Amino acid sequence: MEDLKWWQSGVIYQIYPRSFQDTNGDGIGDLPGIIQRLNHVVRLGIDAIWICPIYPSPMADFGYDVADYCDIAPIFGNLADFDRLIAEAHSRGLRVILDFVPNHTSNQHSWFLESQSSRDNPKRNWYIWKDAGQEGGLPNNWLSHFGGPAWEWDEATKQYYYHSFLKEQPDLNWRNPAVKQAMCDVLRFWLDRGVDGFRVDVLWMLIKDDQFRDNPVNHGYVPSESSYKRLLPLFTANRPEVHEIVAEMRAVLDRYPDRVLIGEIYLPIEELVTYYGRDLKGAQLPFNFQLIQAAWNARSIAEIMDQYEAALPLGAWPNWVLGNHDKARIASRIGEAQARVAAMLLLTLHGTPTIYYGEEIGMKDVPIAPDKVQDPAEKNEPGLGLGRDPERTPMPWDGSLLAGFTIGTPWLPLGPDHASANVAAMCDSDESLLNLYHRLIALRRGNPALTHGIIEAVGVEGNILSYERRQGNDRLAIVLNLGHEPAQVSLPPGRVLLSTHLDRVGEDVDQGVSLRTDEGIIVRVSIEG
Ligand code: NOJ
Repeated sequence: MEDLKWWQSGVIYQIYPRSFQDTNGDGIGDLPGIIQRLNHVVRLGIDAIWICPIYPSPMADFGYDVADYCDIAPIFGNLADFDRLIAEAHSRGLRVILDFVPNHTSNQHSWFLESQSSRDNPKRNWYIWKDAGQEGGLPNNWLSHFGGPAWEWDEATKQYYYHSFLKEQPDLNWRNPAVKQAMCDVLRFWLDRGVDGFRVDVLWMLIKDDQFRDNPVNHGYVPSESSYKRLLPLFTANRPEVHEIVAEMRAVLDRYPDRVLIGEIYLPIEELVTYYGRDLKGAQLPFNFQLIQAAWNARSIAEIMDQYEAALPLGAWPNWVLGNHDKARIASRIGEAQARVAAMLLLTLHGTPTIYYGEEIGMKDVPIAPDKVQDPAEKNEPGLGLGRDPERTPMPWDGSLLAGFTIGTPWLPLGPDHASANVAAMCDSDESLLNLYHRLIALRRGNPALTHGIIEAVGVEGNILSYERRQGNDRLAIVLNLGHEPAQVSLPPGRVLLSTHLDRVGEDVDQGVSLRTDEGIIVRVSIEG
C-alpha cells in the first residue's frame, strides 16, 4: 500500500480564532483559547488545524489586512503563546497550518507607509501605483471585491494604488523580486517556528495584467449579486505568471520536511487543477470548493466527483470542503437532516477533507441585526446577503449563558439554539451529529479503503448517490439519500459499518437496502467465494 503523507490521509479542521475560545474576557477568541480546546479537536480525530490570520492587524477585514507578518496580534496573544500552541499541538500529534496572506497587506503595514510616503521611496514599487487615467479619471475599470473601484487616489503623491479588496488592503506588487524575497522570508520565519504548512489566501489573484487592460463586461451579471461581478476578472486573476510564484513558495516549503501548501482558489475545475503546478511542484492541495457551490442533489454531486477525478493530473491528491468563513454554513444551506449526509459524503470521498469549526455540531448561520454587523462585505454593499458574520459566530461549548465561549460580551452573537446545540450536550448524546463525525473520522482512520482506496462506480438513481471505495480486496459501498423520500437501493451483500442515524451498525445487507429519508450508509461488501 502506498505511503500517504499526513496531509493526504488526515483530516484538516479550520479554526476562526476570533470565535473559538476566549480566555481573557474581551469577547474575542485567542491563542490560549485554542490551546484550551485542543482536546476537542484531538477527540474528534483531527490531524491538522488551520488557523485564520492571527497577525497584528487593524482588523478592517478581520485579520486579512496584515500589518506585520512576523508577530501575533495582541488580542490573540503573543509569540510565546504561539510557540506554546505549536508545542501543545505537536505533543498531541496535531499539525498546525497558518493562513498566509500574500496578495495584500494592511495600509498600516510599514511597507505600505513607506511606499506611500513619496514617489521615490525605495518601497514605492512594492505596491501597484498608477497615474490617473484620461481626464484625471481611474487608471482602468478594475473593481474591488468589496464594492466600488479597485483604485484609491493618494492625494499626497498624486497617484492611485490598487486594492483587490478594501482600500485598507493595498495589493503587493508580486512582479517585484524584493517583494517575493520578503514574503519568502515570512514563510521561513514561521516554518522555522515549527509551522506545518500554509493556507494561502486568494492564491489565484497574486499577479495582475502588466498592461493593465480593462476587464470585459460580464453579460450574465444580475444586480442582486455583488457589484464586483459586473466584470469578468480576466486581467486581474488567474494570470499565467502566477504559477511561477506558487512554485517559488512551494520551493521554500520543500526545504523543510513534510510541509503542505494549500491554496484558496475559486476557479472552475479545469483551471483549479493547474495550481498543482508543473510536475506537481505547485500547491499540494488547491482547495476544491465544488461542494460549496454545487446544487445539493445526487446528479450534480456525481457530476462534480466525475469531473474532478478526471481532471486531476497524474499523482495529484484530491481534497474536499463543505464550508468556510466566507460562505453560508452547510447546515443552513441544506438543512439539519442533510448535514449528516454531507458529513458522510465529506469523510468518505477520495481526498483530504477540511472541516470548518462548528460543522461537527451542525452550527447554522446566525442572523445578525443591522446594528451588529461587523463584516465590511455587508457594510459596503448592504442587503445583498454578502455579509459573512453569520458563519463566523462563537463556538457554543456548553449550555451556559455564554456557551463557555467567553465571560465577556461575544464579538458576534451566539446562535439562538446554543443552549441545546452545543459541544457538551452533543458529547452526551449517542445519536448526535458530533458523535457521527467522530465515528466517521475513526472509520476513515481505521480503513485504508477510505483514505488510500480508489473511488469508483459513482452512480445516481433519483436522489440517491452511491459510490465505492476500494483498496485491495476491501470494498466499501457508500449510499447516500440526498432526498427527503425513503428509497430502496440494490446493493451486493455485505454488512453496515455506519449509518448517518447511527442505528444500523452490523445490519446485514442481502438483496438491497432501504434508506430512510436523509439517510446514508456505509456497507462493507462481502468478498465472494
Ligand atoms: C479570502 C479570505 O478567505 C476572506 O475572508 C478575505 O476577506 C479575502 N480573501 C481577502 O483577504
